Amino acid sequence: MVCLSAKALLLAAGCLPQLVHSAGLDTSAVALGKLYFGTATDNPELTDTAYVTQLNNTDDFGQITPGNSQKWDATEPSQNTFTFTNGDVIADLAEANGQKLRCHNLVWYNQLPSWVSSGTWTNATLLAAMKNHITNVVTHYKGQCYAWDVVNEGLADDGTYRDNIFYQYIGEAYIPIAFATAAAADPDVKLYYNDYNIEYAGAKSTAAQNIVKLIKSYGAKIDGVGLQGHFIVGSTPSQSSQASNMAAFAALGVEVAITELDIRMTLPSTDALLAQQKTDYAGTVAACAQTSACVGVTIWDWTDKYSWVPSTFSGQGAACPWDENLVKKPAYTGILTALGGTATSTSTASGSSTTTSTSTSTGSSSVAQQYGQCGGSGWTGATTCVSGTTCTYFNDWYSQCL
Ligand code: G3I
Repeated sequence: MVCLSAKALLLAAGCLPQLVHSAGLDTSAVALGKLYFGTATDNPELTDTAYVTQLNNTDDFGQITPGNSQKWDATEPSQNTFTFTNGDVIADLAEANGQKLRCHNLVWYNQLPSWVSSGTWTNATLLAAMKNHITNVVTHYKGQCYAWDVVNEGLADDGTYRDNIFYQYIGEAYIPIAFATAAAADPDVKLYYNDYNIEYAGAKSTAAQNIVKLIKSYGAKIDGVGLQGHFIVGSTPSQSSQASNMAAFAALGVEVAITELDIRMTLPSTDALLAQQKTDYAGTVAACAQTSACVGVTIWDWTDKYSWVPSTFSGQGAACPWDENLVKKPAYTGILTALGGTATSTSTASGSSTTTSTSTSTGSSSVAQQYGQCGGSGWTGATTCVSGTTCTYFNDWYSQCL
């Protein structure tokens, strides 16, 4: 059964007001046939009323992802004691707004409680603990999630398995077993593998494709692959490279989504960097727009005020489409344009709609900015560094303009 949202039905029927010039990001994405445009959020931000007002704006956001509150340390801080309070706050907010929920995540090496990361395990005991965690969390949120990120970041950048505690005690089988366990707890939710640096062809993307095959070879279900999209201004993979990479996943019979998009820059922000960021956002979103298997795009929070970037990458930031004062940046228009150019969209009385894609984005520039990636195995972005910097080799997978 195909279920259309009320907004999609209105668009399909041409029932919108005469002009849809003000169509936002989700409205435009749905008009293009996508399921959603959405954003991550986190509990501490929900005390900021101006922030919440925009988070609730379903014209822009048709989907929400909890940035932290469904992770293992948040949901099972001690063994077999489950706390869903913070996750429920965000799930309830999304439900009240009629927004889809992407649930994030079940099995990840990071943000594990110490009883997992520092526990004494055998193959059997860790397997039982992992299955118990998945079963309880998926059962609690059954019916509320569009998708679960079942395994997050299970690969190293060279395409080998990340040497996490699950791999150490269970081996690669932890991945298909996690998917089978999630499917048993909620047969209807979409099950995703989610990772970064798999947004373009290369060893890691190939390894992620092999994970899809591995899961299927065990007879387990995988529905999608999440391409996180934590990019750098001026070094973002091109639209065409992202689209062809999406096609490689789609050929395996899974959907894809851009799940954590943000595009950081070296501060301070300048007009030139903001213009390049607009181009980079547009190219990335356009890759999803042009790919039928790509169901939607999620930004990893919408405002620089609450971005994870500055605390992780010293001297970098301004990665989101809204600035720290909650004002739209040029990137917003870039995304909107990639989703169909609503400024030229009208809905006629006869019911015909012209809200189809008119994306003209061209992807990233040919010059990588200072600190931007400029090379590495599978790298398809710029290999020339901005004047005054040199492309410096770090390892076979990463070179940077310094
Ligand atoms: O919960 C503690 C709190 O008790 C303490 O007072 C506070 C003091 O710093 O820290 C809190 O933990 C922080 C946690 O977020 C919850 O706010 C951690 O320090 C902080 O490192 C953690 O950062 C999160 C990060 O994942 C952890 O790796 C970011 O908010 C979150 O946006 C980020 O999200 C990840 C995705 O899940 C997976 N892909 C990459 C993405 C970006 O790193």
